[in-house]
Amino acid sequence: MHRILVASLHRATHVINLLMNYLRSVREKQFERKLKRTVGFSFTSDWASHNYVNWEKWFTGYGHQPNLRVLEIGSFEGRSTVWFLENVLTHPSAQLVCVDPMPWPVNPPRPRFMHNIQLTGKAQQVTLIQERSEIALTKLPPASFDIIYIDGAHDAINVLADGMYSWELLKVGGLMLFDDYLWEPDKPEYHRCQRAIDLLLKQFGTRKTLLHLDYQALLRKDAD
Ligand SMILES: C[S@@+](CC[C@H](N)C(=O)[O-])C[C@H]1O[C@@H](n2cnc3c(N)ncnc32)[C@H](O)[C@@H]1O
Repeated sequence: MHRILVASLHRATHVINLLMNYLRSVREKQFERKLKRTVGFSFTSDWASHNYVNWEKWFTGYGHQPNLRVLEIGSFEGRSTVWFLENVLTHPSAQLVCVDPMPWPVNPPRPRFMHNIQLTGKAQQVTLIQERSEIALTKLPPASFDIIYIDGAHDAINVLADGMYSWELLKVGGLMLFDDYLWEPDKPEYHRCQRAIDLLLKQFGTRKTLLHLDYQALLRKDAD
């Protein structure tokens, strides 16, 4: 009885996933057609521009650096991606890896992401990995990124996983930035980034320097 129930649940999940993927691809096609008539950037939300003043201080020194490698976890429609492309990955050999499953069947962000990065003229410098970070990050080469921006899933367990994997992926001397350290203080701790970031900072100990701790948290990796 138990086995039949589990098998039925698996089958139902499979059918639901197929349906969600189908709905998403239909919506993506509709958006792509609409975006062809859009002249400028297209965004539905803004989780990035209030950070630009700080990002300019922290990251624009990396501009024009050949072979710079940046990893962004959580790209959505590409607003932060566009900022990094225009302000940091200014050398044509610089590479940006974006990890985001973009799973949403309603208003899927992928068409806008593609449209927006095309407009920067630097789409060829971007690799989009459309997978959950806890899967994608395990396949990237260790110590291969100069900057990592963590803005994916916000539950403590996800932020913890993103921070742990990112530590391995970051070069010594590289910068790791977390968004939303102070996000939604009324939510339970396990639903927020703060507890995970605090734990990670403790765990990295003297191997890191904490450069900034406010709504965003920035650290430099000083040793493996
Ligand atoms: C706040 S948005 C990112 C905003 C973007 N950085 C910006 O500033 O424009 C969070 C993104 O994380 C993505 N996300 C959710 N869970 C994820 C996971 N497990 N791995 C990677 N990305 C995830 C969502 O699909 C969403 O696009």
